[in-house]
Parts: sequence; C-alpha cells; structure tokens
Amino acid sequence: MIMTEAKTYIKNMAEIVHQELDVISKEWTSIPATLQKAMRYSLLAGGKRVRPVLTIATAEALGGSIKMALPFGCAIEMIHTYSLIHDDLPAMDDDDYRRGKLTNHKVFGEAMAILAGDGLLTEAFGLIAKGAREAHLPAAVSLDLIQEAVRYAGTQGMINGQVQDMESESKSITLDELEEIHRRKTGDLITYSIRVGALIAGANQETLEALMTFSYQLGLAFQIQDDILDVVGDQEIIGKPVGSDEHNKKATYPSLLGLDESRKRLQDCIHIARESILNREDLDPTRLLELADYLLLRDR
Ligand code: IPE
Ligand code: IPE
Ligand code: MG
Ligand code: MG
Ligand code: MG
Repeated sequence: MIMTEAKTYIKNMAEIVHQELDVISKEWTSIPATLQKAMRYSLLAGGKRVRPVLTIATAEALGGSIKMALPFGCAIEMIHTYSLIHDDLPAMDDDDYRRGKLTNHKVFGEAMAILAGDGLLTEAFGLIAKGAREAHLPAAVSLDLIQEAVRYAGTQGMINGQVQDMESESKSITLDELEEIHRRKTGDLITYSIRVGALIAGANQETLEALMTFSYQLGLAFQIQDDILDVVGDQEIIGKPVGSDEHNKKATYPSLLGLDESRKRLQDCIHIARESILNREDLDPTRLLELADYLLLRDR
C-alpha cells in the first residue's frame, strides 16, 4: 500500500519535473544547436528524478509548495545529469548506456559530452538564482542556496567523492573509507536536495539537523542499493550496464561485505533515517518515510 502511494507520488512529481525541464531547456535557443541537443538528450532521457522529488517532498512536509520548490529541483537534476554524463566518459567509468539509452559521448562524441555537462552545471546556478528571485526569498537565504550548492556538489562534496572513487580503483580500502566515498559522491547531492526543500520552506535549526541525519542515511542507502543493483540488477530495468563496478575494480559494498551484509546495512540506514524525522512538530514525515521505504526496495 505504502509502496503504491510512494510510487504514484514519485511518478506524478517526476512528470512535473520532466515537463518543467523540457520547458526550461527549450528556451536555451541562443546556444549552439548541437550543444542544446546534447544537453537535452541526457536531461530528458528519463531518470527517476529522485533528487527533485526529495526537494519537493521536503518542502511540502514543511508546508511549502510544489511550485516554489520546482526550479530548485530542476537545477539539482541538471547538476545530477551533468555528473552522470561525466561519470560515464571513457576517462571515468567508461559506460555505454545510461537511462536506457546510449551515453552522451557515444552519441555526440567526447568533446560535446564534456561541454554538455559543463553547460548543465552552469545553467543550474542561473536557475537557482532565478528560482530564488521568483519566490521572493530573502537575499540571505538565496545566497545560502547558492553557497550550499557549491559546498555539496563541488570540490568538498560530490566532486571530492568522485575523485576518491577514481583513486580507489584497484585498491583495497576500508569500509570507513568506502562510506566516506559514498557520502560524498552520492550522499552530498541528496543532502543538498533535502536541505533546499527545508531552507525554502523556512525550517528551523533543529528540524534542519534532523533532516541532515535523514539525508545522510538516505544518501548512503541510495548508493549501497546502486552498488547492489550493479551486481544483481537487470540492465533493461536499471537502464545502465550491470557489472560496471567489477569491471572497473571499484570498491563497493557488495565487494567489501557481500550482498547479504550490504542489504542489512541498507536496511539499517533506512531504519535510522526513518527514526530521525519522527515526532517533529513542524514536519509531516509521511511522504518522506514512504520515499525512504521506496528507496530501500527500488529495482532501478
Ligand atoms: C545514479 O543516480 C548515480 C548515483 C549517484 C547513484 P540515479 O540512480 O538517481 O540515476 P537516474 O537519475 O535515475 O538516472
Ligand atoms: C556515480 O556513482 C556517482 C556520481 C556522482 C555520478 P556510480 O558511478 O556508481 O553511478 P552509476 O552506477 O554509474 O550510475
Ligand atoms: Mg562512477
Ligand atoms: Mg558510473
Ligand atoms: Mg553505480
């Protein structure tokens, strides 16, 4: 029952995000046509839109609106899509399929794929500023949203994790080191997605801290499941190659702990995540709890 509701909610919100991304990217007309095509190719390829859905759900849980959260969710999806285009490049994970289609560089060539990623990243910052202006957010909150995007997506956050991921290939690392990689490369953008929803809806400091525990655990769980699906997933369903991690000699939860223990860790993360957002006066946790359960059981 809960799963059906979460699925329907994700489906509906993902559709709203998709439509908005289509509108936004159609307006990129003063850029080279090939670049626009390459950017739209990956952006509209149809990911799960988990991050913008989390932004919207967090804002709603605190009394905010979908409309207000939408531009920020779209900006985060643009940052995420750029990271995937670059992650798939031959110099990185060298993968040929993403979101059920050939990867960006396979279609447009490496140079254009790099530039499409650069374009999406840069446009995202413009969209955050535009969203803040349109929502009439106070200047201090608007600047926080931008500074935090730098913090969580940048060289301390997601990029940091990607560097550590690359540098750990073929090496044996500890579980603590692996958790740190997962926290940075995947958890930090998920944390940002949730923080944005909270900041625009005006969450107080204590609620923000509770949501930090939630997002930390959720982000880790998300990457553990990504690692598991890289072993046991169905390429038709996940839309990207199975076995990529083993091929690239990546350290992953299954490679360090085996599948059963990885699944147990994933469940532990979701359990702590759920507990962290219960019983808060200003937050209705229902939807976020459903989303946490959905992420535990997702098959794509
Ligand atoms: C894949 O993210 C890369 C990770 C950070 C784990 P998603 O699993 O959210 O990919 P899409 O957006 O649905 O394609
Ligand atoms: C990617 O992690 C994290 C990013 C920041 C893109 P993975 O390399 O495991 O993601 P997939 O499996 O290719 O989607
Ligand atoms: Mg990678
Ligand atoms: Mg990869
Ligand atoms: Mg993976």
